[in-house]
Amino acid sequence: MSLVINGKAVSAPADARVSLLDLLREGLDLPGTKKGCNQGACGACTVLVDGERILSCLALAVQYDGRSITTIEGIGGDAGLHPLQAAFIEHDGFQCGYCTPGQICSAIGMANEAKRGVPSNVTVDLTGDPTMTREELQERMSGNLCRCGAHNGIIDAIRDGLATELAA
Ligand code: FES
Ligand code: FES
Repeated sequence: MSLVINGKAVSAPADARVSLLDLLREGLDLPGTKKGCNQGACGACTVLVDGERILSCLALAVQYDGRSITTIEGIGGDAGLHPLQAAFIEHDGFQCGYCTPGQICSAIGMANEAKRGVPSNVTVDLTGDPTMTREELQERMSGNLCRCGAHNGIIDAIRDGLATELAA
C-alpha cells in the first residue's frame, strides 16, 4: 500500500489507526499541515486529495491508498510562491500563521468546487455557476478558523490570488 504525497510515493503506516495528519507530521516530517482541534472543527489540518479538500485529522492514512495528496509543502515550488501564497503576504492574510497552510489548501480546494458548480449554503441561484461574491467566499471558507482574526485579509487574498480560478 502506498500514498503519493507531494508527488512522492510513501508507504502507508502499518498501524491502521494512524490519521493522515499524524502520518504527515510525525511519520514524514511534513509539519506544514497543522494540528489545531484534532476533531474536525478548525480546518488547520486541511490538505488536498486529488484536488479536493479534506480534514486530515479525521482521515485514516490507510484510506488513501493510491491517492495523490498535496500539502502546503507541495504548493508553490522551484519557480517560487503560488500566486495565492503571494497574495496572503500582500493582503496581510495572516498574523501568527498557524491557520495559514489550512487556509491556502482549503481555498484551492474551494475554487475547484466552485469550478464544478457546487453550491454553498448562501448560493441564491442554483441553476447556474455560483457567482463568487465576498459572502460566498466567506461561507465557503467558514470551516477554516483564524484565531488571530485575519479573516478579512484572508478573503482579500483569496479574491486576488485565485481571481482566474474563481472567475471561470
Ligand atoms: Fe483538523 Fe482542527 S485539526 S479540523
Ligand atoms: Fe493566527 Fe490565523 S493567522 S490563527
